[in-house]
Amino acid sequence: MMNQKIHNEVKSRFTEEFGADPIVVKAPGRINLIGEHTDYNDGFVLPAAVDQAIYLAVSKSGTAQSTLVSLDMNETFSFIVDDFQPSQSVSWANYIMGVVAEIQKSGREVEGFNMVFSGDVPQGSGMSSSAALECGTCFALNELFQLKIEKVDMVKMSQKAEHNYAGVMCGIMDQFASMMGAPDQALLLDCKSLAYQHFPIALTDHTIILCNSNVSHNLADSEYNIRRQQCEEGVAILQKSDPEIESLRDVTMDQLLAHKDEFSDVVFRRCKYVIEENDRVKKMTEAMSESRWATVGQILKVAQDGMRTEYEISCPEIDFMAGFANERSDVLGARMMGGGFGGCTINLVNKGSEDQFIDELNKAYQAEFKKEITPIKVLISDGVKRI
Ligand code: GLA
Repeated sequence: MMNQKIHNEVKSRFTEEFGADPIVVKAPGRINLIGEHTDYNDGFVLPAAVDQAIYLAVSKSGTAQSTLVSLDMNETFSFIVDDFQPSQSVSWANYIMGVVAEIQKSGREVEGFNMVFSGDVPQGSGMSSSAALECGTCFALNELFQLKIEKVDMVKMSQKAEHNYAGVMCGIMDQFASMMGAPDQALLLDCKSLAYQHFPIALTDHTIILCNSNVSHNLADSEYNIRRQQCEEGVAILQKSDPEIESLRDVTMDQLLAHKDEFSDVVFRRCKYVIEENDRVKKMTEAMSESRWATVGQILKVAQDGMRTEYEISCPEIDFMAGFANERSDVLGARMMGGGFGGCTINLVNKGSEDQFIDELNKAYQAEFKKEITPIKVLISDGVKRI
């Protein structure tokens, strides 16, 4: 479904501002059912594109100057396409300029363009608004300048934009999901080979509900990069005895345990979590294809424990929300979603109990933290497309 209101807003502001008729691209955020922090370890993930999206109205400017308008931030930013660098002050512009830089690195030419964008992917919620902006930008520029970039390369360029312009050494999951999503399908993605299959989400008796903790995760970017380094440290230790190991994806739990003494406690726990989480992706897809929903819920619960105690990416608010949900008989399971330190929990709730669950969670959360959760209903949708 399209958010007609946002679509109209970006279009009419574009015409007002630039006096031209733009193309409009819709770039979705994503959920992730399971497989957190496995992507940069060459592992497996199970994300899906959702209806919440960023809408970008774009056209050529006719000069080297590009002007970007963020309706949600109420900010305008300009740059020259053949002479620019990351902005220290306007962080959202980096996602867009980062993509332009990657397209240029691939030997293609980008002329000046104008853009107005807005969306309903809540920022800092673990729903990948930044990947949506990157993928939407890449897709729009590909259309506008007929660059003939393959979708998978747009995914990689968008990921690199985040590395090089936003400084977050993210994996490929978010950009992949935003670009390749399909209605009612999750993507079971092998982050090493990038082979993927659409995996149907056929819920009849349950609903997926996201609950946004409304905790903005300031620490998230630096802690994210630290997690990645810790995993690399673990791989380096294991490579000493087995040079064939390229990533944690190649490591079994027995192998890890056999070398436990060589690890610091922290690095050991990080690696243990990743190996277990990869295994959870496989187990969850098996359970889903056999409609064993209680098992799916159980896996969510165990994953939350792993994020809390082993990978240490949770926070008090999320612990409270997931803990509250996981004690209820009308919730099969809940865990934090995304990079960590806040954002949303993903909850698998019995049909018919949704409102009561949200209401009771919200009351308990308010009593504890003096702020509200925001419930988000998700519809699994298409990947990036022109509308
Ligand atoms: C962020 C990153 C992804 C992934 C998740 C955690 O969303 O951008 O690449 O690592 O965190 O699973």
